[in-house]
Amino acid sequence: MHTVGGMRVAIAGGHGQVARQLSRALTARGDVPVALIRQLGHVDDVVADGAEPVVLDLERANARDVAEAIAGADAVVFAAGAGPGSGVERKDTVDRAAAGLLADGAEQAGVRRYVLVSSMGAGAPPPPGTDEVFAAYLVAKRAAEQDLRARELAWTILRPGALTNDPASGTVALEPSVARGAVPRADVAAVLVALLHEPRSARLVLELVSGDVPVSAAVAAALA
Ligand SMILES: NC(=O)c1ccc[n+]([C@@H]2O[C@H](COP(=O)([O-])OP(=O)(O)OC[C@H]3O[C@@H](n4cnc5c(N)ncnc54)[C@H](OP(=O)(O)O)[C@@H]3O)[C@@H](O)[C@H]2O)c1
Repeated sequence: MHTVGGMRVAIAGGHGQVARQLSRALTARGDVPVALIRQLGHVDDVVADGAEPVVLDLERANARDVAEAIAGADAVVFAAGAGPGSGVERKDTVDRAAAGLLADGAEQAGVRRYVLVSSMGAGAPPPPGTDEVFAAYLVAKRAAEQDLRARELAWTILRPGALTNDPASGTVALEPSVARGAVPRADVAAVLVALLHEPRSARLVLELVSGDVPVSAAVAAALA
């Protein structure tokens, strides 16, 4: 059941592992997730998470399709990704281009708030010797960040370290720059919820790994 006044959040990559935990966390606090998914077979799962499903393939849609899908949302989150099995080409079509398409759709729909799940390492060109596919991923994430930063949207860029499926710890390191590390997807989801509910986190770029600061305190400190 929704609390009246809960936030409506459209999530690109709505059946992804972070996205599903985000949907459950939002639902638990009375917000309304809208899961953008590309497979009809994923509808039941995201409904079980408490989300409203919208079927939309971000490699085939145009900005108008996206604007229709997210109409009425208070915020969008980009949590899609071409995934570990994909090659160089889909790093570009998903990790870069789909993030930009979501921003185009947000602008058309008048949705101002946009939280991008980027990646640690996206802040600089990949170091020489980086594996070709991983380098293409980092280049795509970096381009998605730069595209978003040039827009008028109220964006926040979150750069998690290596994602794990460990249970939530509830504590993190969330700073403009942190040492390389890992972080449970469940903690990423909790940070996303906190950022979505903190409009003053707009125009911040934050790196995220496991740490010892409770999520709400870490978000508050990042505003200072
Ligand atoms: N893995 C890491 O260590 C790591 C580290 C830092 C940041 N990240 C980033 O964190 C984010 C979330 O990661 P995750 O592990 O939750 O990802 P995930 O489980 O791989 O989920 C990605 C989702 O994106 C969807 N997607 C792919 N192509 C799409 C398209 N054309 N249109 C619509 N949706 C599409 C996939 O849908 P299908 O199920 O239909 O394929 C999938 O549900 C990603 O942006 C990832 O790049 C990951």
